[in-house]
Amino acid sequence: MFDKNLLSIEQLNKQEILGIFELAKEMKNHLKKGELLETLKGKTVATLFYENSTRTKTSFALACKYLGATTVDLGISTSSVQKGESIIDTVLTLQALKTDAVVIRHQTSGIHEYLSKNVECSVINAGDGCHSHPTQALLDGFTMFEQFGSLNNLKVAIIGDLKHSRVFRSNVVLLNKFGVKPFVFAPKTLMPCAVEQLDVVACENLQQAMENADVVMCLRIQLERQEKGMFPSIREYAKFYGVNLDNIKNAKPDAVIMHPAPVNRGVELTHDSVDCEQSLINEQVTNGLCVRMAVLQKLLSDKN
Ligand code: CP
Repeated sequence: MFDKNLLSIEQLNKQEILGIFELAKEMKNHLKKGELLETLKGKTVATLFYENSTRTKTSFALACKYLGATTVDLGISTSSVQKGESIIDTVLTLQALKTDAVVIRHQTSGIHEYLSKNVECSVINAGDGCHSHPTQALLDGFTMFEQFGSLNNLKVAIIGDLKHSRVFRSNVVLLNKFGVKPFVFAPKTLMPCAVEQLDVVACENLQQAMENADVVMCLRIQLERQEKGMFPSIREYAKFYGVNLDNIKNAKPDAVIMHPAPVNRGVELTHDSVDCEQSLINEQVTNGLCVRMAVLQKLLSDKN
């Protein structure tokens, strides 16, 4: 049964994930026809982004709008957070203002779990530290599902800054639920500690990761999270770990390129590979809106 919170992918089983994909598809059809829904009329959702965001924050706000909910964004930099108010008091304040759900991005891993035990409104994780980004993994999974009709038996290569990536961790958990063991590659300094404990195939080189892949997912070099000196230079990273229109030929001819974005163009991916026909990066953004509509509907609709 769907909980009132979305804290991580771990809490969802395969059937629940497929249920979100099905509802996201319905939402996409409504959006294509320009139909606005009123299924969350009377509900109020607050967004609290303690870290920067374009896609996640905007898509949650639009998802609420298209479902008829009221949204309020707590601009962290102009809020009482700046006077030292704790996150729990901030959320309790929003709850006292009759907010039904809070969508939170925060730099502290595990903060949503802690909050969910101390507040009554729904808590939705929009990214916590290097830990989890469940709606990103859901939109990535939905994008693959739309493209291939199933996640079963896909070869998914994941390349980039795996150590600092909450997108990586959530995607691995989701793909494992469908029996998919991602092939992963990164500079040794950007491999997660204890990678052998994850259900992934750690590759020795880019070719091994990409060979016959259905999906090549590149992850952003998180310069804001990492200490300096994880790799010699951006130029060297691009040469040995970057995906381009030449090395993508190692993957299957109908392989797709994915990236959660924002992309460091010319680093994880060359400009032309970001914009090529195989790239689903913009489709991922659209699917993020549909998936977030589905998640809000599942969590907040009185009919579910
Ligand atoms: N992919 C992702 O989470 O993007 P934003 O940081 O723009 O929300």
